[in-house]
Amino acid sequence: MANKKKRRFTWFSLAKWAVTDGKGINYDTEERSEVYDQIAIDYFHRDRLAKFLVDKTGEWFPGKKDIRICERAAGGGIVTNTFYDAGYQNIRVSDISKTQLDVLSEKLPNIKTIEEDINTKMPDVGDDEFDLMLEVGATRYMTRSGQQVFIKEAKRALAEGGLLLWPVMLVEMPLTWVKKGMSGPVTSPWGIKKLLENEGFFIKEMPFLWHGKMGIIATYLLVAENGREGESRVTKRYRKILK
Ligand SMILES: C[S@@+](CC[C@H](N)C(=O)[O-])C[C@H]1O[C@@H](n2cnc3c(N)ncnc32)[C@H](O)[C@@H]1O
Repeated sequence: MANKKKRRFTWFSLAKWAVTDGKGINYDTEERSEVYDQIAIDYFHRDRLAKFLVDKTGEWFPGKKDIRICERAAGGGIVTNTFYDAGYQNIRVSDISKTQLDVLSEKLPNIKTIEEDINTKMPDVGDDEFDLMLEVGATRYMTRSGQQVFIKEAKRALAEGGLLLWPVMLVEMPLTWVKKGMSGPVTSPWGIKKLLENEGFFIKEMPFLWHGKMGIIATYLLVAENGREGESRVTKRYRKILK
């Protein structure tokens, strides 16, 4: 990864992240970004997940590196960087935090970044503009209505045959909400699958992935195609430990 120094996992960094995540979308300090990058790689093995997403993209778009990609809530760009290094460089990147985007721009100055809320529409994006949409690690920052908006936007912005790659943990729950004693939105991969299908996406695959320190992060990757009627079967089911 470009300009990436190897960081060391510490339980302190994880605890700090868990506590500060209670501030919700507060990714607006460089320190926060640094802590997140550290735990994302060392604890969640986000780089391995990113590599898996790149491989999956290669399977669905064989030999095509010029596909048009939209990554929402990209943060400091761990996933973006992995795609970029693999030769996928036509990427529209957004996040709600300017600081996160600044961190990303330092690594990838050629990539255009946009500040936006994932729960809202993308006014700068036309219909059928992308082949691939990515959402990694921000499901818990979506409101219930925001989930619907996000999915409708994905449907609109993806060309026919375009794919949405959306890893969803077994239970996604915003710590902010938990701390305030609020209920939901508690999201499961099956809940998201249903929302996607209701909107006319077809789930092509739903691999179950173990990753993270000690393999304790359990994620279903939703591979959803903006496709044609009659193709809604999940054709491949498998479990994989990301190494
Ligand atoms: C857990 S990080 C994931 C970052 C990156 N996608 C990754 O996989 O490493 C969550 C990101 O979501 C962003 N975020 C939080 N709330 C958001 C919102 N409402 N709209 C867009 N981005 C949001 C944060 O700024 C942060 O960069």
